[in-house]
Amino acid sequence: MDKISKIIIATLFALSFSFSDDQSIKDQFISDLLEKMTLEEKIGQMNQYSSFFDVTGPPPEDNSTKNKYDHIRTGMVGSVLNVKGPKDVRAMQELAVNNSRLGIPMIFGIDVIHGFKTITPIPLAESASWDLEAIEASARMAATEAAAAGINWTFAPMVDISRDARWGRVMEGGGEDPYLGSQIAAARIRGFQGSDLRATNTIAACAKHFAAYGFAEAGRDYNTADIGTSTLHNIILPPFKAAVAAGVRTFMNSFNELNGIPATGDSYLQRDLLKGQWGFTGFVVSDWGSIDQMIPHGYAQDGAHAAEIAVHAGSDMDMESYHYIGYLANLVRAGRVDIQLIDDAVKRILTVKYELGLFDDPYQYCDKQREQELTYSQSNLARALEMSKKSIVLLKNENNVLPLEKKGQRIALIGPLADDKNSPLGSWRAAADDNSAISVLEGMQQYKDNNITHSKGVALTLEETSFIREVKINETDRTGMKEAVEIAKGSDIVVMVLGEHGFQSGEGRSRTVLDLPGLQQELLEKIYAVNKNIVLVLMNGRPLAIPWAAEHIPAIVEAWHLGSQSGHAVAQVLYGDHNPSGKLPMSFPRNEGQVPIYYNHKNTGRPDPIEMVFWSHYSDQSNDPLYSFGHGLSYTSFTYSNLDVQISKGANQVTINVTIKNSGERDGEEVVQLYIKDLVASVTRPVKELKGFKKIALEPDQQKVVTFDLMQDDFSFYDNQGKLVFEPGDFTIMVGGNSVEGLTYSFEL
Ligand code: NOJ
Repeated sequence: MDKISKIIIATLFALSFSFSDDQSIKDQFISDLLEKMTLEEKIGQMNQYSSFFDVTGPPPEDNSTKNKYDHIRTGMVGSVLNVKGPKDVRAMQELAVNNSRLGIPMIFGIDVIHGFKTITPIPLAESASWDLEAIEASARMAATEAAAAGINWTFAPMVDISRDARWGRVMEGGGEDPYLGSQIAAARIRGFQGSDLRATNTIAACAKHFAAYGFAEAGRDYNTADIGTSTLHNIILPPFKAAVAAGVRTFMNSFNELNGIPATGDSYLQRDLLKGQWGFTGFVVSDWGSIDQMIPHGYAQDGAHAAEIAVHAGSDMDMESYHYIGYLANLVRAGRVDIQLIDDAVKRILTVKYELGLFDDPYQYCDKQREQELTYSQSNLARALEMSKKSIVLLKNENNVLPLEKKGQRIALIGPLADDKNSPLGSWRAAADDNSAISVLEGMQQYKDNNITHSKGVALTLEETSFIREVKINETDRTGMKEAVEIAKGSDIVVMVLGEHGFQSGEGRSRTVLDLPGLQQELLEKIYAVNKNIVLVLMNGRPLAIPWAAEHIPAIVEAWHLGSQSGHAVAQVLYGDHNPSGKLPMSFPRNEGQVPIYYNHKNTGRPDPIEMVFWSHYSDQSNDPLYSFGHGLSYTSFTYSNLDVQISKGANQVTINVTIKNSGERDGEEVVQLYIKDLVASVTRPVKELKGFKKIALEPDQQKVVTFDLMQDDFSFYDNQGKLVFEPGDFTIMVGGNSVEGLTYSFEL
């Protein structure tokens, strides 16, 4: 087809179908298009390549990239990832639209995990806000920036539940709890996708990694997951199901095997559950090379076999394995893959492209002017700051060391992360400029009436190769410690900023030791020896095991990796201009031996201490975490009273009212948490399960009644056949400000 006919067809498509949400018009459009496509063109839609050039002019065509260009020009590529910027994306889109026979636009994806250029807190940190509206707004801001820079698809949210802080990717998720995780998954999807995918402030979201990636054995990334049906259905799958209910348009499968089947080749997960029972109408992309990786898994013999397994299992798009493009056509011709499987996959992919409006205007996401106006704007930075403050968790505040006095203090600011402008951007930083975060030093310098002296003490050094950034931990250089000790000696208060560098968590960054890396613990103890008045600001992408600090240091602030506005957020919390209200979405262990550690564990048959050793415990450590799920302090205090529970037995519904009062002296926000316990069931239930939460703001002496309505489904669980069942019997509820203590009430349903 010549260029002009293509333009005419595209215009006709646009005229007849633009802005129409009508299902049948969409279906008709897709099936008409499908009919025109050759087998190779169909398979092309199922093929995704990663970026292979920076388009700053005509793309170079060396041998390594020539094939890929040819593939795009001939309609053999449905999607590209990791190209960004209106100019580059437009150039690549033009290759497809102007050259291929049918001119089908490509979909452009990238990992927009916590912000695009304006970087918001890492997802685990945002999850600590328990503020769904704020989380949704944060995702929308990221979508708005990305959608001007050529991007129409993010590989987020990661909705993997994890109970294992050794796993580096906990930074990317919503923590350990399936209820909180589901709410957050839905909020992020609403944020990314909005109600109209064609809008210029929305992009398609992707629920990942389906499934059980967060249960990698021993927290080692990409490792095997071996789990029972109860954990699969009650803990791992709910956020994915919630993602479908929230309308997510794509899923990504997973690197790991689950009970002997690589997730990429798992038709129970992808066909029976996702596309079957859950009615998912979008498409599934493989994880990077995960089709090919079924070979080393020992599940596929070779690339052709891997492609055959993956397509049967419901993996619609091949990210960087090259096996669909390499083998699918022959597999169809040989009768090993039914063309209907291909048609189904292609329909799904074209549907999402249609919904994104790409057939109307393949370039609508490439808008320089919009990019300039909307990206990294002052208002976006202000929003990021609000989100960052909400994400901070006050772990400890003995004798109200915090907030700090604003005047007349000599403050020693110590630690390798105190003046770091790169680390707070965290892992996954899309289009952020390196070193663009506000450091804690810069944030604290805004408060000019104190005297701040800064010293790193020890170093965490970033090493870069061309692709990967690694943090090099110095274990021997103590030369900076002396200066740090000296300034601590002469100060009224010491603020220490310690933890993990932003590149010490994330993909491939599993750890077996969850301490303060390098010489930081030693530094902390040295400083403590000369000045005990320490505020420890932690920056990290996962729960850390810091028992010494928890025992000795009077104030501990969990500041994660908070993104662009990090230092301002920390300073405003330290000085009391923001009263912290974050609550932990993941338990902090006392040591690594306790991991996996999580609040919603089972009771065991021997839960209670007896005089002999034969009860479920450790001989060298207590069972409980250092800081539990849901924990987080405030500069004010809240009291809970008047728990009132109304039971409607026939309907199995329960209404809970509880009064919360701000009994301190400052305005504050509290996350009111509701837990249930099902005492006896045909499959044992956890000691506690979160079933509701509400975040409320209270002035001093103000009180509010918070109401929760629990339905039958809230008292139900998945049995070992994966069926949701309600079993009448005895239940206890607990309402409080964390997962450990609160008002309780027992009743029968
Ligand atoms: C591999 C990661 O597991 C996945 O989460 C990510 O979206 C892809 N790489 C693409 O970058």
